[in-house]
Amino acid sequence: MRILSIETSCDETAVSLLEISGPLKKPDIEVLGNTLLSQAKLHEEFGGVYPNLAKREHQKNLPPLLAETLKQAGESADTPYIDFIAVTTGPGLEPALWTGIVFAQELGKKWSKPIIAVNHMEGHVFSVLRDIKEPMALPALALLVSGGHTELVHIKDFGQYEIIGRTLDDAVGEAYDKVARMLGLTYPGGPKISRLAEISRQNRSEINLKFPRPMIGSNNLNFSYSGLKTAVLYKLKSENRADDEFKEDIARAFEDAAVEVLVKKTRQALENLSDIKTLIVAGGVSANSYLQAQITKLKEDFPDLQVLLPANGLSTDNAVMIGIAGFVQATLHPEKLSTGASEEALEAKGNLSINS
Ligand code: KG4
Ligand code: ZN
Repeated sequence: MRILSIETSCDETAVSLLEISGPLKKPDIEVLGNTLLSQAKLHEEFGGVYPNLAKREHQKNLPPLLAETLKQAGESADTPYIDFIAVTTGPGLEPALWTGIVFAQELGKKWSKPIIAVNHMEGHVFSVLRDIKEPMALPALALLVSGGHTELVHIKDFGQYEIIGRTLDDAVGEAYDKVARMLGLTYPGGPKISRLAEISRQNRSEINLKFPRPMIGSNNLNFSYSGLKTAVLYKLKSENRADDEFKEDIARAFEDAAVEVLVKKTRQALENLSDIKTLIVAGGVSANSYLQAQITKLKEDFPDLQVLLPANGLSTDNAVMIGIAGFVQATLHPEKLSTGASEEALEAKGNLSINS
């Protein structure tokens, strides 16, 4: 199948053209064209993503990104050879999502091609299929960690999802971004905090600073990150220091706490479910090398577990993962490919859940 995919749920505008065939568990994925423009720099001064600015930028960026993607693939802009268009319809910022949807609808009409609605979180889950070496064994557990989500999803089969744990307040990526802001670092803060934490780990074997691990002892799989963020704020206020060493240690103590809870709850879920064959860790925060290292250690206790992480560049938002999730949907529901089947139903859903 040839899929043109469009992602505009947050602050990345992305378009890709993929050729995908083969079984869902190990598809052959060829990326014919792939483009992405991040608006992070523009949103820096707001300390987060400003929805109407994101919308305006998506509107401006989509036409040139489409042209460039088609050019990379050697396709004509008038009648490109594709089977369908995949577009993110949620979750995300509604004004931003609508931009992608309206753009997809215009193209669908112009080219007489069907449109498949893609759940952004399903996109994150299947980003790991990009370079998969062995067929994905099911059932799987997904730890989804991004700027908007922190959830544990039981993947019983393709298309069958149950959320078994989620954050009760802030998402872990959001906590990274907020702590970064407190330290005077710009959005997105995750990679910057991670770099400071790494410097502290390299230079000092131990530090005399520890933050609480929220909900680590609760006997459910939910998370909470707002208390950890507040604990960091109080520490910064009470110490009133601004030297590099202090910032590095704060970043490290924050990351230690944030990651320990993620790994502990993931372990608990693996123990509770007992038949999980694959662990998927995806979403922007899955790019974090400390989290990757700690998650990989779980293999010591679950030696048969297949641990899958997104390929380089596919942790944070992109259009390739939306195309792959579109392929999964089209394979599970071929009726969605009849022209016009989905067009009227397309609607931006800011709070769309992966199990809806
Ligand atoms: O999945 P994503 O691109 O967008 C959403 O769907 O939210 O995730 C973005 C989030 C941001 O909060 C960013 O700070 C975080 O992922 N992030 C990281 C790293 N790279 C991105 N957090 C920690 N360490 C990283 N290396
Ligand atoms: Zn995302």
